[in-house]
Amino acid sequence: MEDLSPKPGDLDPIETASRDEIGALQLQRMRWSLRHAYENVPFYRAKFDAAGVHPDDLHSLADLAKFPFTVKQDLRDNYPFGMFAVPREQIARIHASSGTTGQPTVVGYTKNDLDMWADVVARCMRASGLRRGDVLHNAYGYGLFTGGLGVHGGAEKLGLTVVPVSGGMTQRQVRLIEDFGAAGITVTPSYALSILDEYAAQGRDPRKSPLKVGIFGAEPWTNAMRREIEEAFDMHAVDIYGLSEVIGPGVANECVETKDGLHIWEDHFYPEVINPETGEVLPDGELGELVFTSLTKEGFPIIRYRTRDLTRLLPGTARSMRRMEKITGRSDDMIILRGVNVFPTQIEEQLMTVPALAPHFQIELTRPERMDEMGVHVELAEATPDAAAEAAVRELAAKIKSNVGVTAKVHLAPRGKVARSEGKAVRLVDNRPKGG
Ligand code: DLL
Repeated sequence: MEDLSPKPGDLDPIETASRDEIGALQLQRMRWSLRHAYENVPFYRAKFDAAGVHPDDLHSLADLAKFPFTVKQDLRDNYPFGMFAVPREQIARIHASSGTTGQPTVVGYTKNDLDMWADVVARCMRASGLRRGDVLHNAYGYGLFTGGLGVHGGAEKLGLTVVPVSGGMTQRQVRLIEDFGAAGITVTPSYALSILDEYAAQGRDPRKSPLKVGIFGAEPWTNAMRREIEEAFDMHAVDIYGLSEVIGPGVANECVETKDGLHIWEDHFYPEVINPETGEVLPDGELGELVFTSLTKEGFPIIRYRTRDLTRLLPGTARSMRRMEKITGRSDDMIILRGVNVFPTQIEEQLMTVPALAPHFQIELTRPERMDEMGVHVELAEATPDAAAEAAVRELAAKIKSNVGVTAKVHLAPRGKVARSEGKAVRLVDNRPKGG
């Protein structure tokens, strides 16, 4: 793999600023953001008043803990534009969640917000090792989802040549990566695996592709998956994180020279990790729920937003800004199977250690009798002879049992039959009877 480390002069001064400088900037911006939310969004005014706090009560960054949390339901209650802090005419763009599980959540950006977003995404692309003039194949979905357009704006700002291919039409993805000489690809890790399959189907060697780095996010993925993808494509794989409510992709990104967790662009997004049960702020290093406060957003300021993502905060390394550990999962995705907590990423980790199986999987929960059961649907790797199937299934079940601590039924599907994704993978299908 090529050395993509930054050269002197590549970084913005803020990326290597001292902690004191960063802290001073954060405090000044946090004061502004709290006041902006309080004065312009009736929801925040009512919430702060009810909690007996006022923006003037913020004297230190730690004082943020006095302010109330914001949750997804608050956004739904204020559908569509109730959380905006500027007149609607000043909103230059709107994004929204798909709304498949209820009312869509809507977010809005002023021109300045779009500029800031492009700045932080440009930082992400650079941290990933891309430089002005490189070709970027952007396979995140374009549209209301923030992935496609969010990455696009930042990539243009850095001076990349952006190919706005979006998700889907996998045959064409492979062709364009090759023909246009893409140095980078932005895509969900699960869709990257579908693209990898397509390389095999076309009889092309992915290790000979022009790709130098893949920038993967929008869903949890493991270091085991990183190794699998890096090996298959002979390229770096780094993690990009973000969520629409905070801005979209570009809240945090791994640095290609260290790959040790994601640096949070703390000059715009202030992170806290809390105990999800009590709401208490945890010290850096402890595992809990990630919470964000926007420091500079105009259109849609967000104060102490509970992401439901589980991680811990770590000190800076390649940059001065703090890191978040690779996300284990969302509290919503946690399976409780006979008293044991299981995240889909733990199953992924085990699957990656069984070379006879392909990296695609889906978990299915059922309740055949009175007890819940977990099934894991997998398929054989291309090179595995059918005769080795039984041993592979047994190996995965045994590894899940001994390393995750639960009994799973491993179901072998014919090749190509485990559900593929073109965006965010659906890792969990709940087929338990409702209301039982
Ligand atoms: O997924 C934004 C994004 C697009 C991030 C492209 C990265 C790349 P939402 O659709 O609002 O926004 O979903 C946000 O996705 O709360 C996490 O649960 C999950 N997520 C996003 N990035 C990661 C990641 C975009 N790197 C939700 N690792 C978040 C794990 C991630 N989970």
